[in-house]
Amino acid sequence: MVTGLGIALRPQIADDLLNNKNNLLKFIELNPEHHLNMGGYTRNLLTRLAEKYPILGHGLSLSLGSPDPLDIAFLKQLKKFIHETGMVLFSEHLSFSKCDNAHLDGLFPIPFRHEAINHVIERIKQTQDILGMQIAIENISYYTTLEPEMSEAEFISEIIQRSDCKLLLDVSNVFVNGSNHNYEPKTFIKQLPIDKIAYIHLGGFSSNENELIDSHDQPLDKKVIDLFDWIVSQIKPVPITLERDSNYPDTLSELLDEISPLQSILDKHWKK
Ligand SMILES: [Fe+2]
Repeated sequence: MVTGLGIALRPQIADDLLNNKNNLLKFIELNPEHHLNMGGYTRNLLTRLAEKYPILGHGLSLSLGSPDPLDIAFLKQLKKFIHETGMVLFSEHLSFSKCDNAHLDGLFPIPFRHEAINHVIERIKQTQDILGMQIAIENISYYTTLEPEMSEAEFISEIIQRSDCKLLLDVSNVFVNGSNHNYEPKTFIKQLPIDKIAYIHLGGFSSNENELIDSHDQPLDKKVIDLFDWIVSQIKPVPITLERDSNYPDTLSELLDEISPLQSILDKHWKK
């Protein structure tokens, strides 16, 4: 399994990634939905990138929490795509983003309730059966809870244990949620099955007068880097991706400058 630092593929840096000679990057992450059924230049670019970097897939549309059936046709397409790109890990959000075939503009929290747990576990198992591999699910950022019967950590932990999937720990989401919902990030993470962490996300956030916003439009916050340092000290090596979605730097080198201090943290804990 690939470990170390990676970056999320965005069109602005695709050419830079092809020409990159810096060996800091150990893989790239991409959203399969942006590449499925694409031919011509886009597919050719992906083929060349896949020759240069291991690929990690990060889904946007599976909508594990939706009440309507899973999109089996999409999952079959995805399986083929995973095979074609040699994708080493596929992850999805623990959220819902579709209802009655309407795609919503965002990733919404699933109610922290027993009925929802059973529903989501069935869907993760079905996904893993079709893909023929374990997937990783990501803790999302959210701004309100919906009639919870348990804590968020209990909700995530039970789903991961009973569906036998992996955890994509988004450290920035933990920090943002901890601030907005008044919990201590390390205490929260200690309640999760950290031996199931297979992947880590980091991203910048912004704020208004009331809360932090998981906006992926700023450099990493020092407190998130400190939290990342602590979690790296607790687990075995895994891949780590920096997510940036807007306020995008002009060149890949600016993003590499942002992630290079993270390599020192990895070396400190994982090169003993
Ligand atoms: Fe994330």
